[in-house]
Amino acid sequence: MKFSSSVLLSVLATLSSSALAAPTKQVPLKIDFSVERSSKAPKSGILARVAASGVALELENQYSMYIAEIELGTPVQKVRVDVDTGSSDLWVPGAGTSSSYGTYDNSKSSTYSKVKDGFSISYGDGSNAKGNWANETMTLGGVTVTDFMFGDATTQTAGEGVFGIGMIGNEASAWGSSGFTYDNFPVQLKNQGFINNIGYSLYLNSLSADSGSVLFGAIDKAKYSGDLKTLKLVSIDDSGSKVDSPVAFFVELDSITAGGKPLASKSYPALLDSGTTLIYAPSAIAEAIGSKYGEYSQSYGGYATSCSTKGDDFSFTFEDKTITVPWEDLLFKVDDSGKECLVGVLSSGSEYYILGDGFLRSSYIYYDLENNEVQIGQAKYTEDSDIQLV
Ligand SMILES: *[C@@H]1O[C@H](CO)[C@@H](O)[C@H](O)[C@H]1NC(C)=O
Repeated sequence: MKFSSSVLLSVLATLSSSALAAPTKQVPLKIDFSVERSSKAPKSGILARVAASGVALELENQYSMYIAEIELGTPVQKVRVDVDTGSSDLWVPGAGTSSSYGTYDNSKSSTYSKVKDGFSISYGDGSNAKGNWANETMTLGGVTVTDFMFGDATTQTAGEGVFGIGMIGNEASAWGSSGFTYDNFPVQLKNQGFINNIGYSLYLNSLSADSGSVLFGAIDKAKYSGDLKTLKLVSIDDSGSKVDSPVAFFVELDSITAGGKPLASKSYPALLDSGTTLIYAPSAIAEAIGSKYGEYSQSYGGYATSCSTKGDDFSFTFEDKTITVPWEDLLFKVDDSGKECLVGVLSSGSEYYILGDGFLRSSYIYYDLENNEVQIGQAKYTEDSDIQLV
């Protein structure tokens, strides 16, 4: 998925070796990204890349992404990719395609091996990529993962490659009747001894910050206040259908209040998706919130208001845990003048929420792919760090 304020990712994964009692190579793998914002969309109508059944979520004029630089092959070829928790495969533009983010040429790598034909992925914004499944050696932040399966795209319409780090049940290979799953990046990090538990912490940092991180295999205890609350994942897919076990990061959101007054009081599943910019809610809730603060705008498909509108901070409650989101995080600039803003809660068109950046900036979340749960806390914006292995 993709989000809104435009983000630029210079991702440098760095290895932190502090606080590591573990022997061997278990180290927190930290991917730092920098954030660049703009109100101009490089492509029309992109907002979210929802994998699988693909709800098309569109918003003009706001765009952002996390770009990580990965090194593929031997000798290494550098490719910059969009890091996405809303999908589960890595694919890169192969030789014969073009991308300003770099391409990968398998004929120049001694560690390439083709696995099979039939790589195909499509996203909610309509973009897609097709090609072959291949194995490679991949280096990210000083960590080298071997036999890493990915999509070597021979055609693509997305622009840049995508580095999906979601659950294996949502891999593109698993879609359809003859589907299969494979050990994707988070799983291979564990298989190859870099992390103890398949999971990572997401810290987007504040609205004004220019960097944040994904930290594999560890939690940075300095970056949240209070405790982390464990929430079980809900077993539904992106179409809202029940599935046997969780395939995406849906948790149950019980209520939203603002200034102590209820805005939404019925529970719905909520997808914690870094690849989405705004917040999407069941339509009645989106309308109630939008009309309280703005006027409906056909062109934005949502409620617009002046950027100087003052509102209350929102409280999102999950069981007994409340995450507070400042009003300013819920207003999204829609033009360069900075005068007109969109109330950042739009209709999901489904019986669930998608909590994108607008929400995620205020939270610190450890995504636990092994135990089908997340641990969520109120983000604390600080340079300090206290990294503990999970
Ligand atoms: C590709 O890598 C997987 C491990 O991810 C391994 O099981 C498989 O045998 C490899 N296939 C080829 C053709 O190298």
